[in-house]
Amino acid sequence: MDVDTGIDDSLALLYLLASPEAEIIGIAATAGNVPAPAVAANNLAWLDVCRAPAIEVALGAEEPLAIPLRTTEDTHGPQGIGYAELPVSDRTLSDRTAARMWVELVREHPGEIVGLCTGPLTNLALALRLEPELPRLLRRLVIMGGAFHHPGNTTPTNEWNVHVDPEAAKEVFDAFSAAPAERRPIVCALDITETIEMRPKHLALLAERAGSAPVEMVSEGDGPEIRSATSNPIIRYLTDAVRFYFDFHKLYDQGYLAHMHDPFAAAVALDPGLAITRPATVDVELTGTLTRATTVADWAGMWGREPNADIVIGTDPDQFFDRLIGRVGDFARTVYPPQEGRANR
Ligand code: BDR
Ligand code: CA
Repeated sequence: MDVDTGIDDSLALLYLLASPEAEIIGIAATAGNVPAPAVAANNLAWLDVCRAPAIEVALGAEEPLAIPLRTTEDTHGPQGIGYAELPVSDRTLSDRTAARMWVELVREHPGEIVGLCTGPLTNLALALRLEPELPRLLRRLVIMGGAFHHPGNTTPTNEWNVHVDPEAAKEVFDAFSAAPAERRPIVCALDITETIEMRPKHLALLAERAGSAPVEMVSEGDGPEIRSATSNPIIRYLTDAVRFYFDFHKLYDQGYLAHMHDPFAAAVALDPGLAITRPATVDVELTGTLTRATTVADWAGMWGREPNADIVIGTDPDQFFDRLIGRVGDFARTVYPPQEGRANR
């Protein structure tokens, strides 16, 4: 995983931890929603809350490839996890960089690793500079990023992850231009991820499934000082994190809901069958005065270049949420069985 945790990155991590077919072998902490050290601390803290085994967390570059870092605490909260205040973890960071971890892991497990990128592509681009064969060493790559026939969420045409480091995004898409069809990255852009609308009822269903009490129904009337009091710590922290995301979306007139970009990409990484895709050649505008960092898809081969991406054009959001609630709810219940959860406030 290469993440900028991040509220929705947090739920992507929980989804993978909760999925029996997934083994997370490394987490790259990429600067984006918050600076890289905060991203790393959030990941380590979630691993503690989830009583996860030791998983390597490697710190990424502090800055994008060519421009200063822009972060977005207004979207993800002061620490990147909304209203949640996770206990600081004693786990230590890897002694290798995120880029080095990418490279060494794919070399050790050629053709086996599914890469999931839910943040800016800075560290993957740095890894590609170290190992140009990386596209062929991966089994599959899934990227949350870009906006095609859809407005941006950062500028009128920019999606956040590409906006933060457009040079890196371009290097990554360019690197896959020679990849065989089965190695093309699956791209989950805003066009599809903004159809993944999480609502208060989904949090309540998660709590119910986890046996967490009381089952809370958060609402837009809840003030910023409110914290969840539900018994299961995973559900409790998640509720505090996601409620901030609801408030943010509400503030920008999108309703009292949250777009769950990154957990959807995580679900697609484990099961591409969740997504209908269409091949295209993707490039990133680097020079436009109004359109810099815009992703452009050539669906019809007008550039005369081979496709370098499979863009997700359809999914069933209800199926995704059923899976998310089933997996994360059962996981939370297993980590904190209802009796223990109550004693474990
Ligand atoms: C992406 O931007 C980030 O804020 C989210 O975590 C997601 O990865 C959506 O544009
Ligand atoms: Ca993210």
